Amino acid sequence: MKPIRFDYTNVMSAAVGEHGLDEPDLAGLAEPSLRALDAVQARRKKDLRWLDLPYRDAVRRAILDYAASVRGRFQNVCVLGIGGSALGNTALQTALNGPFHNLQPPKGVPRLFVLDNVDPEWVGPFLETVDPAQTVFNVISKSGTTAETMSQFLILRAELVRRLGEAGHREHVLVTTDESKGVLREVAQREGYRSFVVPEGVGGRFSVLSEVGLVSAALVGIDIEALHAGAAAMDARCRTKKFAENPALLHAAIQYALHTKRGLPMSVTFAYSHRLRDMADWYAQLLAESLGKKHSRSGAVVHRGPTPIRAVGVTDQHSQVQLYAEGTFDKWFTLLAVDRPAIDVPIPHTFPDLEALSYLGGRTLGDLFQAEREGTRIALTEAGRPNALFALERVEAHAVGQLLYLLELSVAVMGEHYDVDAFDQPGVEAGKIAAYALMGRAGYEGRRAEIEARTRGAKRVT
Ligand code: PA5
Repeated sequence: MKPIRFDYTNVMSAAVGEHGLDEPDLAGLAEPSLRALDAVQARRKKDLRWLDLPYRDAVRRAILDYAASVRGRFQNVCVLGIGGSALGNTALQTALNGPFHNLQPPKGVPRLFVLDNVDPEWVGPFLETVDPAQTVFNVISKSGTTAETMSQFLILRAELVRRLGEAGHREHVLVTTDESKGVLREVAQREGYRSFVVPEGVGGRFSVLSEVGLVSAALVGIDIEALHAGAAAMDARCRTKKFAENPALLHAAIQYALHTKRGLPMSVTFAYSHRLRDMADWYAQLLAESLGKKHSRSGAVVHRGPTPIRAVGVTDQHSQVQLYAEGTFDKWFTLLAVDRPAIDVPIPHTFPDLEALSYLGGRTLGDLFQAEREGTRIALTEAGRPNALFALERVEAHAVGQLLYLLELSVAVMGEHYDVDAFDQPGVEAGKIAAYALMGRAGYEGRRAEIEARTRGAKRVT
């Protein structure tokens, strides 16, 4: 299995001029990066246990045993979860199952739905379209209290009980939550649901390689052993103390230096792979929620954090690239590329006499896709826009495991550079509390009164 390639030639000033990094910028970050790596690794056995997820062989076996025990039993798997309890599940599905998996799943393999929103105009039609009696619902919540996930659970449980009865509904509910905390665990115990544990020391957005991401992946036939093997390979690769050979350290240092030394706060992940588009979405949460913080670790008010942007090649060439090439100098780019697509599509040589079409004939969509990607790289570089590239040999579980682990480690190291706690999310909690208050949850009356006082005098036009 080939290691992921990280090409950062075009983030350097030698390639892009004044907005790029000079050699001393990166050299100056070598020592801090190694210190950051040590600081992160020192927490591996304490509160950063996600670093060890690829080595949990017994858990992986238990998941595979469960998946084998229900093979052929359900037409659908539906994840009820949000944020870190959903984005990785979607990213794995789009990367590692076919793009039309749900239209035509392989024989005996269920379709996958990830309901990571409570918009009734989405959940309502889901209820009208997908038969719950043919579905296993994987309710995922680390806290076991999140209103969105809990409300979906209540709705789906009622529907299952209505259709299948109290006893019959139980095998359709699978819970993934904390071992002891949260109302979801209490309900799972009371109802006797099959359950998996979100391990200690594994935050939501760092949980894709835990039970959170793996259960639904295994149920829809994704090779979770290869996923873990890829992550373990990246872990081994990123233990090196040679800064110039460590892709996670380089990536973190480049992000930090381009933001703080070159004033480029926007970090665009440009997936030149339709299958990796949701990986960009997953990374957006990882970057935003980990680094977007009001306080430094010593408590000073700092308001830090890069802004993630997702784009898909070639689609967004015809939408965003004009801005990227000529707009404000506030962005840098990470392209995700695939060296060898699993399938290629030849372009017929239909009109050899028409020059505007004949150059396409006899080539393939793979050739065109690659030319477009390289064209964008060249255009960005010539426009002075720093850009790097992660290249996967193929979009397969081992490579995806490598990429996930690399980005998680990189963001943890970025937390050290930016001097913020990369593992909390007080801004998200604040929104959750406001929603509890607005929904009338007991204990949040004071907060509700504050919100109501603030919304008086709102400026509106009808
Ligand atoms: O990364 C995070 O911590 C968050 O995005 C959570 O995953 C999200 O808020 C959902 O929380 P929970 O899994 O507790 O329901």
